[in-house]
Amino acid sequence: MTDDRAAAVELDRLEVAYGGAVALRDLSLRIAEGETVALLGPSGSGKSTALKAIAGFEPVSAGTIRLAGRDVTALPPAKRGIGIVVQSYALFPHLRVGDNVAFGLAAQRVPRRERAERVAAALAMVGMSDFAGRYPGQLSGGQQQRIAIARALAPRPRVLLLDEPLSALDARLRESMLEELQLLRTELPDIAMLYVTHDQSEALALADRIGIMRDGRMVDIGAAEQLYTRPPSAFTATFLGGANLLEATVVSSGSSSECVEVAVGGDRLAGRSASRRSIGERVLVSVRRHAIALAAPGTDGSLAATIESVVWRGSAHHVRVRLSGGDTVAVVAPLTGDRPHVGDAVALLIRREDVHLLEEKPSGDAGTVSGTPAVAA
Ligand SMILES: Nc1ncnc2c1ncn2[C@@H]1O[C@H](COP(=O)(O)OP(=O)(O)O)[C@@H](O)[C@H]1O
Ligand SMILES: [Mg+2]
Repeated sequence: MTDDRAAAVELDRLEVAYGGAVALRDLSLRIAEGETVALLGPSGSGKSTALKAIAGFEPVSAGTIRLAGRDVTALPPAKRGIGIVVQSYALFPHLRVGDNVAFGLAAQRVPRRERAERVAAALAMVGMSDFAGRYPGQLSGGQQQRIAIARALAPRPRVLLLDEPLSALDARLRESMLEELQLLRTELPDIAMLYVTHDQSEALALADRIGIMRDGRMVDIGAAEQLYTRPPSAFTATFLGGANLLEATVVSSGSSSECVEVAVGGDRLAGRSASRRSIGERVLVSVRRHAIALAAPGTDGSLAATIESVVWRGSAHHVRVRLSGGDTVAVVAPLTGDRPHVGDAVALLIRREDVHLLEEKPSGDAGTVSGTPAVAA
């Protein structure tokens, strides 16, 4: 997908090293005006390092950073015109909320009268108009994070960087802040956002595109929905989609590459592939946990399995089953069906469009597949 909006951020082969250790390598990324990109990856994968380099808090050892076409690689943070929000709020405890929000405006030499207007507008945007006179210590975590967002927005940056802004908040608050951030995006249609998180649900809720980070590299990038439904690699399938990975053999390949049949153990599954496959080819198949229905054993076109564990998680049963070939598969079963029981023989029904053949090959090296992270539900 090409984006014909102007580029707000252009990163070209960025590299950051701490001492001799390279923490970020070869990062190239273009973010258009009005676009939100999430960098998603496990802890230590280089997300914060990327963000700090763009903001100017960490010097780069190679590569260039352009903002709105201007090379800012050597500029100090205050000259880049970027708003930044971090996990820990980083508000000044001795300043009232209003003065915290005004902080960047004084440095920008915004006239006093206009400062007050901008502070009021930024506080209104995050629903905190009544709190200008309080000190940060008199606010809850969620309120402090709203103030931090208002402070970042008050100077009207064209680029907003957010580093795990919700991770210090409890689950319920995270949910409502996510909705507010979505709303903010519609209120600020021209701002470019880079949102760093280890939480796939935040990335999916907010981002137009998602870049997957692993060991200092961006290993995949694509439109959020495409990456989720058709992940290119095993790592992305498991980290972004919490998908099951199955090793399989191609048994038939239709005239269209979209229609493929694979053998998984003794059973067959219809699936989709982006490229042509040949009969007998070993492939990796990704199937998301929510895309599997439990049915009566023996159902046509299904995988035979036995239930190994069932955990009721409120809105669904989280079920682990073992296939006849020995692989285990995680299933999220809605509460509407029969309650699954440990030891039951079942059939796994999966629609063709949810059976996705990865381009990545299975390898004898167990590290490739089992080295991918376990993903919490
Ligand atoms: N100031 C630092 N000095 C030395 N190493 C660092 C520093 N900051 C981060 N690192 C290392 O760089 C790597 C990437 O870290 P970071 O960008 O913070 O990852 P993430 O934000 O994805 O969790 C990690 O191995 C981390 O230990
Ligand atoms: Mg980080």
